[in-house]
Amino acid sequence: MIEYRGVHKAFDGQQVLAGVDLRVEEGEMFGIFGPSGTGKSVLLKTTIGLVEPDLGDVAVEGEVVRAGDRRNLERVRHAVGYVFQNAALFDSLNVWENVEMGIPETELAGMSRLDRTRRIWRSLELSNLEPDTVVRKTPAELSGGMRKRVGIARAIVGRPRILLWDEPTTGLDPVNTAGVERLIEQLSEELNVTSVIVTHDIQGGLLMCDRVAMLQGGRLRFCGTPTEFRASEDPLVKAFADRTAAQAALDHLEIK
Ligand SMILES: Nc1ncnc2c1ncn2[C@@H]1O[C@H](COP(=O)(O)OP(=O)(O)O)[C@@H](O)[C@H]1O
Ligand SMILES: [Mg+2]
Repeated sequence: MIEYRGVHKAFDGQQVLAGVDLRVEEGEMFGIFGPSGTGKSVLLKTTIGLVEPDLGDVAVEGEVVRAGDRRNLERVRHAVGYVFQNAALFDSLNVWENVEMGIPETELAGMSRLDRTRRIWRSLELSNLEPDTVVRKTPAELSGGMRKRVGIARAIVGRPRILLWDEPTTGLDPVNTAGVERLIEQLSEELNVTSVIVTHDIQGGLLMCDRVAMLQGGRLRFCGTPTEFRASEDPLVKAFADRTAAQAALDHLEIK
């Protein structure tokens, strides 16, 4: 479904991705862990041509993503929905307009206003938002959890076959985290999509995902099932999992 082949990327002489090889299979829910600043977001962005690899390539449904090719990108972005870190909504647009941005241009042209409204309504409902209450509001009038859900509605409104989630639960309290994770599972099932989720919630990720990987030093340090991850003898994998668990416990104490 998605194939990363020897993906390299450097910024200002700093090597961020140093040869990432990964195949995500159809229908799979795939988790990516890793310390912050290791290139998890950069890797996700190569999937839709927002970042172009210096070396290597990414194929979506068998076709190589070409950052400079508009028609190619349109096709890719039709197949892939992207839930950005921090929702990344347009502040000056209301919820209706923000979600509408997720409908591919080619499709939008042939849709009546009623079709569009139906589609936007349905996406908001699927994202556990009440359309009537939120459509006219601007992002500033919503809570953090609601903004995340609007970002999700925008990602699914184009009926993608693949969903990329960049830290969908970062900054949410434990209750909202559990809620969004349930929503991810539910959507993946109902919409029958392939999902790649970047998350720092290791426990949640291990419960949700079919396979997980850990990105470290520009490469996949680990790739396997949650059971294999838990049993890993790799000192770096263990240290990362333990430290993250300890941090989560501390965060939890602070919230209480
Ligand atoms: N467009 C960009 N220009 C320059 N540097 C970037 C750009 N995008 C990401 N980086 C750098 O690449 C590194 C990895 O970033 P990122 O993928 O956002 O990390 P994370 O694993 O936390 O998601 C960071 O050092 C970041 O500053
Ligand atoms: Mg990131």
